[in-house]
Amino acid sequence: MTNAVELEAVSFGYRPGQSVLEDVDLGVGEGEFVAVAGPNGGGKTTLVRIALGLERPTTGRALLYGEAAHRFSRRKTLGYLAQRSQLGSEAPATVREVVSAGRLAAGGLLGPLRRRDREIAAEAIDRVGLAEHADAPLRTLSGGMQQRTFIAKALAGEPSLLVLDEPTTGVDAESQESLAALLDRLHSDLGVTILYVSHEFGAVERFVERLVLVRRTIVFDGAPSELPGIWHDPSHVHA
Ligand SMILES: Nc1ncnc2c1ncn2[C@@H]1O[C@H](COP(=O)(O)OP(=O)(O)OP(=O)(O)O)[C@@H](O)[C@H]1O
Ligand SMILES: [Mg+2]
Repeated sequence: MTNAVELEAVSFGYRPGQSVLEDVDLGVGEGEFVAVAGPNGGGKTTLVRIALGLERPTTGRALLYGEAAHRFSRRKTLGYLAQRSQLGSEAPATVREVVSAGRLAAGGLLGPLRRRDREIAAEAIDRVGLAEHADAPLRTLSGGMQQRTFIAKALAGEPSLLVLDEPTTGVDAESQESLAALLDRLHSDLGVTILYVSHEFGAVERFVERLVLVRRTIVFDGAPSELPGIWHDPSHVHA
């Protein structure tokens, strides 16, 4: 079966001579749940942006379901929560409106939401535990609740590949646990392929089957339980 994500000998710099990623090989099969961890500045965000076709490798190639990532035709099957997703023009909007926008993106429609779209948006809001706040303006919610709203927005597109870049920034321990449980359900019940970026792998190692450590290149790729002790030492993991 074709991999959901395939990076082949990818190197990348934002400017000539800069080496942010070097010779990265990574294949993520459909239905896998992979954590991407590593130090600040290690290249995690860059790696997932290349995987999604938002940046192009300087050398090597990036494929999504076998197609060149930057020309991938079924973009609506991708869910992406960018790092530090913030309130912008969405500030006056309610939770329901923001999450419904994820539904519009999925359908590529700019018309009124159909009943089914409304149901899916409501379900996504429910999944992240914000049903009671669905009609609250986002700016009246806590930072963690806002973050959960953006996660619901990504879920509303019913993605087959979900990429979350540091989704738990500003989210309390209890909500982190419920997010972990939610992702676990999406993965096992719906077969969603998940790439979960976190600079601190301790929070996710309990529920992922595969951990990829990025420090300019991939320095570890395997089951969290196989991680050599040396990488548990923060001085090796943090730049
Ligand atoms: N838009 C950009 N222009 C120039 N350099 C960049 C840009 N974005 C990132 N970099 C550099 O690329 C390197 C990798 O950054 P990246 O954001 O991919 O790391 P990261 O692992 O996601 O870090 P963090 O844990 O802080 O999110 C860093 O040295 C960073 O300074
Ligand atoms: Mg990052």
